[in-house]
Amino acid sequence: MYNIEEPFDLMIDFVSKKQNPIILEFGVERGSSTKRFIDFAEKNSGKVFSVDITDCSKVSDSKIWRFLQTDDLKFNYVLDQFNEIKQNGADLIYIDSYHEAGHVQKLISYYFTYLKKDGAIFVDDIDSFPLRLQKNTWSSIIYDLTLDSVKEFYYNNTDNCSLKIFHKGNGLAMLYKKNNFGVSPNKVKKIWNYNFFLRTLYPKLKKISQLFKSIFK
Ligand SMILES: C[S@@+](CC[C@H](N)C(=O)[O-])C[C@H]1O[C@@H](n2cnc3c(N)ncnc32)[C@H](O)[C@@H]1O
Repeated sequence: MYNIEEPFDLMIDFVSKKQNPIILEFGVERGSSTKRFIDFAEKNSGKVFSVDITDCSKVSDSKIWRFLQTDDLKFNYVLDQFNEIKQNGADLIYIDSYHEAGHVQKLISYYFTYLKKDGAIFVDDIDSFPLRLQKNTWSSIIYDLTLDSVKEFYYNNTDNCSLKIFHKGNGLAMLYKKNNFGVSPNKVKKIWNYNFFLRTLYPKLKKISQLFKSIFK
């Protein structure tokens, strides 16, 4: 039984519509997500491929799980080791490794090619609201910049994918691939943005202008 409001269950719900689902995961640690993906894949004739920079090989001894200890930015090495994904693609790619906007965008930009048609990349920890409740400045900025980097990829690739943001908990972004396995995304170019100082200033200027209008009407 899935709770569609829970970010992890959303991923399971998504991948449960696939035949012999192939899951590629970046970031294992103690294996909380990994074990849930493995449990799902064992019941649904699927496979799970996980990467972590530290040794997480003891997380499971499941036959349908492959673990690779490496930096997930070593793209060629990862795909050479996970040849099945290199040849046929993955249905779901879950990014929960190094939480830094540039890192996340590199992972998306590279591995998007290896996503099957109608597959999706999910990026964890993109809603800073729970952190802002704790007044945690730096982690809030990291989450916001990560979401910005996902959006920047999307705005450069509206022909290739669609984007959905789920706000429950720490948030989850879903990039849904519209085209076939092997089709590469467009190169990400910076998108113009306004000065953030002006954004803070605008409501105050607006109030002052309304005040002047009311005085001199
Ligand atoms: C947030 S934890 C993963 C949590 C896990 N997905 C879960 O739900 O329990 C992040 C993991 O990413 C790994 N990591 C950090 N940088 C990495 C990199 N460049 N390549 C691969 N793994 C990395 C860390 O070793 C850590 O185990």
